[in-house]
Amino acid sequence: MRTKLVAANWKMNLNWNEAMTHIAQIHQFLSENANAADVALFPPAIYLRHFFEHNAMHGPKFQLGAQDCSEHVNGAFTGELSAEMLASIGVQLCIVGHSERRLYHREESARLQLKLKRAIEMGMHPIYCCGESEEDRENENQSFVISAQLEQTLFALNPEAFAKITIAYEPIWAIGTGKTATADQAQDMHEMIRAMVQSRYGEELATRLRIIYGGSVNAANAKLLFSQPDIDGALVGGASLKIEDFGKIILAAN
Ligand code: PGA
Repeated sequence: MRTKLVAANWKMNLNWNEAMTHIAQIHQFLSENANAADVALFPPAIYLRHFFEHNAMHGPKFQLGAQDCSEHVNGAFTGELSAEMLASIGVQLCIVGHSERRLYHREESARLQLKLKRAIEMGMHPIYCCGESEEDRENENQSFVISAQLEQTLFALNPEAFAKITIAYEPIWAIGTGKTATADQAQDMHEMIRAMVQSRYGEELATRLRIIYGGSVNAANAKLLFSQPDIDGALVGGASLKIEDFGKIILAAN
């Protein structure tokens, strides 16, 4: 019913030569393997236009996404990239609210709301990340934290804008730690998120919404995660950087 999405968040990894090698391997893999999932790549912004051209030249094989965009329209914001700039070079998706941005760049609800707005105004589809800390999980506060993150940011969107969203549930304690949430833990949270969306936006949008999981997804655990009814794919960090692992994760979504 919902097509799975396997998204590669490269973060700040791979220099130009490494990135060129990896993109060629991903293209070859996607050409040689029939896969049922949508594949999206989120390389460092400096590579985006090249990836767009590569994709266009070799027959589009993946969707292209940015790891972040500015909350401002344009102007004197040194180092920032606007949603308009990203959209104008062919970027289709944009991660908003990744926990690393929330932590290292102090991104709070008001800024995240603006980022969502900017991305949507420019025709991009945001992947909105939410997730609880280890301490919140130990204190069994995860439902409360996620519901606050959704209420304060995402649920400000009108239904038309919300229809453009993918949600990524990424428990912070599982990101880059090798500690994946169990399939049951992830499924419980995804089910809860879908129920919250249903009570805010109704059944149709809730049923259409893709909710992907992120946090130490790898070739060994992807299949079980993807077999859960409310897990519609993955946002993959570390394991997206090697074709052997990333390829297996893509095939696990078949
Ligand atoms: P990880 O990162 O797969 O390396 O845990 C996931 C993410 O941060 O999106």
